Amino acid sequence: MKNARLSICMDFTVGSVDPRLFGSFIEHLGRAVYGGIYEPGHPEADEQGFRRDVLELVRALKVPLVRYPGGNFVSGYRWEDGVGPRENRPRRAELAWRTIEPNWVGTNEFADWAAKAGAEVMMAVNLGSRGMKEARNLVEYCNFPGGAAWSDLRQSHGWTTPHDIKLWCLGNEMDGPWQIGHKTADEYGRLACETAKAMKWADPSIELVACGSSHKNMPTFASWEAAVLEHAYEQVDYISLHAYYSNADNDIADFLARSLDMDTFIRSVAAVCDYVQAKKKGKKQIHLSFDEWNVWYHSHGQDKKIAPWSIAPPQVEDVYTFADALLVGSLLITLLRHADRVKIACLAQLVNVIAPIMTATGGPAWCQTIYYPFLHASSWGRGTVLQTQVDAPKYDSRHFTDVPSLDAVFVLGETGDILTLFAVNKDGQEEMTLNASLNGLGNWRVTEHLVLAHDQLDAVNSLDNPNRVAPRRISQAQADGDTLTARLPSLSWNVIRLAKV
Ligand code: AHR
Repeated sequence: MKNARLSICMDFTVGSVDPRLFGSFIEHLGRAVYGGIYEPGHPEADEQGFRRDVLELVRALKVPLVRYPGGNFVSGYRWEDGVGPRENRPRRAELAWRTIEPNWVGTNEFADWAAKAGAEVMMAVNLGSRGMKEARNLVEYCNFPGGAAWSDLRQSHGWTTPHDIKLWCLGNEMDGPWQIGHKTADEYGRLACETAKAMKWADPSIELVACGSSHKNMPTFASWEAAVLEHAYEQVDYISLHAYYSNADNDIADFLARSLDMDTFIRSVAAVCDYVQAKKKGKKQIHLSFDEWNVWYHSHGQDKKIAPWSIAPPQVEDVYTFADALLVGSLLITLLRHADRVKIACLAQLVNVIAPIMTATGGPAWCQTIYYPFLHASSWGRGTVLQTQVDAPKYDSRHFTDVPSLDAVFVLGETGDILTLFAVNKDGQEEMTLNASLNGLGNWRVTEHLVLAHDQLDAVNSLDNPNRVAPRRISQAQADGDTLTARLPSLSWNVIRLAKV
């Protein structure tokens, strides 16, 4: 049996959680839109063709924000193709994913879908193959009440009230050679700066996210962020981070250590933002938008076999294991531990494409393993993150040293009378006994201990067996005054909820 000690104190907080930390992402890619959120003719389809069963699973996740329409897709997208009468919309050869985009769903329909899902749209503009003018026109189309050509056009399309989209991405992964219209940091920084000015002149209430590096191992990482912010510091509010993690080596200890990679990534980007702020003697702190994060590797092989140029082929459909859910839990804990700097994060993606929700065309929808840690964190991870001292045994793995075998964070709920501990026991051999001092927080009682555990790391949920990996309640936690003790099963995601006595 391993032992861990935790300590929190009311006076030491990380900060309040921005609800947008639990955002997600829908791209025109594979079956995310067509066959995912939208399937006219499906028994669950509503009057607009949106699947009610999918909407229900999305609403349960309380996703406050959904990034759209890409992703790599956005760098070839003409948003004008997706508005107006459907019968006039063109089919386009989509170069990022080599499919045919029929434009059955566009800006207006997606805004309606997001409203039904209880989420705001985080809109990305095309700064790959297009530029400032088209981006500024889209802001007017979406946000102007009317009285100018683009907003009048929206009204003529049947949307009389503006969508009022508050958060916009200035392109996507512009540092990546795979991107349509890939740019150098200086080219992109200038374009982002000028586009941001025009977009904010069209609507001064919007916030903007500049593209950071596509991942931490990009050759231009850190110098890209510095150069982009040198150009655009005054105009933008956030810089983006993207990261996908793999267990292709089938090495669970090394895989679960990857939350340390996310932690280092966040610290490094925050340091670059602060460097530029200091250099510019600026007052504004640039915050982080971790707008693509997840596990992604299962589908790489099968995607190579998909023939190009069809509509909505089953691309990027990772089937997530129980092991993946553990890492997703650790990544959520890492994001919460940086809630002072990471204000926006998007689990990439939401339906079918590297997603917590899967659908069968014409059939049911179900929850993948990773649905559950996200559900728990989004449901109970709002409020104030408390600095959580973790003293747990450490291990070394292939790529990491001194990996804590316990990831943990406490969040005090918005009303102050609910305290939630999220914890992942990464030890593959033993249960962990946890002893937490809740210094100065008063007396508590445990109301619930939820656990996601499974004796097979590669267990998955599927159409035939949708509940193979699902959380269950256990009774292995007790609070005595201001001390919490618990036993966490080997390799488990845990949520321990306490109420003030
Ligand atoms: O989420 C899938 C893809 O991953 C996105 O289109 C791109 O931005 C990233 O490389």
